[in-house]
Amino acid sequence: MRRPKHRSIERLPKYRVTIYRRQPDYEWSTEPNMKAIFNSIDRLAKTGDLPDEELLALITTGDKEAVGRLSARAREVREKVYGRSVYIRGLIEFSSYCKNDCYYCGLRRSNRSAERYRLTPEDILSCCAQGFDLGFRTFVLQGGEDPFFIDERMTALVRQIKERFPECAVTLSLGERERESYQALFDAGADRYLLRHETADKEHYEKLHPAEMSYEHRMKCLRDLRGIGYQVGCGMMVGSPFQRPEHLLKDLRFLQSFRPEMVGIGPFIPQKDTPFGDRTSGGAGDTLLLLSIIRLLLPQVLLPATTALGTIDPMGREKGLQAGANVIMPNLSPVSVRKKYLLYDNKICTGEEAAECVQSLRDRVARAGYEIVVSRGDHPSRQ
Ligand code: 5AD
Repeated sequence: MRRPKHRSIERLPKYRVTIYRRQPDYEWSTEPNMKAIFNSIDRLAKTGDLPDEELLALITTGDKEAVGRLSARAREVREKVYGRSVYIRGLIEFSSYCKNDCYYCGLRRSNRSAERYRLTPEDILSCCAQGFDLGFRTFVLQGGEDPFFIDERMTALVRQIKERFPECAVTLSLGERERESYQALFDAGADRYLLRHETADKEHYEKLHPAEMSYEHRMKCLRDLRGIGYQVGCGMMVGSPFQRPEHLLKDLRFLQSFRPEMVGIGPFIPQKDTPFGDRTSGGAGDTLLLLSIIRLLLPQVLLPATTALGTIDPMGREKGLQAGANVIMPNLSPVSVRKKYLLYDNKICTGEEAAECVQSLRDRVARAGYEIVVSRGDHPSRQ
């Protein structure tokens, strides 16, 4: 037989073939630090915790791949706990009067340009009725610290809402009050309370607030609320003036030890008539990163993609859901007052984020891969 003209296979030059073990994809990365940071992310997802240095490295990472991985892990955890459901809360901003003078907030008492208003109980109840028809089963009553709303008025209001809408949860966000007051409101039927701690670092707290306010009292309020039996929400602004990564680390440690049922975070956004009016906003990216970390630290937490996030990025709320958030709080206040509740400039309030546009919100959420559900949306420990 004639030998084939081409070279026999044995004589082809030998190529070195490397058989790759199945290994985590960070092994492929060329960045020297990536291996470590990807490893931290996976450990955070698995154990719900990390040592300080690693958590700090995550908080400060600017690496897109790391952020993407963190967000993917947070999404997985969120889906394990809540599936694809998104809870909605109807936010009723019922008073823009405030006796406090926080340096960052547009409602501070020294702001002469702020327009003040107060809704009547009838106004508030009709917001709830409208909200109920739209599918809301939680109403959040939020206001400045308005001395008009003494316990008698507030408890009467909570009672009326609970009588008319017994299958709905009432969340209060009225700032700091005394324990007896929180107790009376709880006894009247309030289910949950939102009081952001703002920062877990006392010195930082004192740079954001006037001397008459105290970090200790804020923390005492949170402990009182917890002791009474509320589902409690705390949280902080991201990128607030004087904030350093170490402060955020302290915030995360505080969240881990306090274990709130809800955590509200959003970027700081300047309001021009406040002492911090010419500061720069916090970043959307930083906020998304922190949402993901919080989801991994507290897998079951109720975590909203906030209005502030939607204000600095038009897709902020959808991105928030994709980074681990599972709650949205559309505005249910009467349209006539929405522009007056100006915590910060350019607050979105009459577009698709508003409660009356819940159908377009449903569509947007669906496009992001999630589903708005009609439910009280309690914390899993209370269901
Ligand atoms: N930017 C972002 N968030 C703000 N808040 C108040 N002022 C601002 C601002 N300028 C937040 C605070 C407060 C919540 C009701 O709104 O964290 O607790």
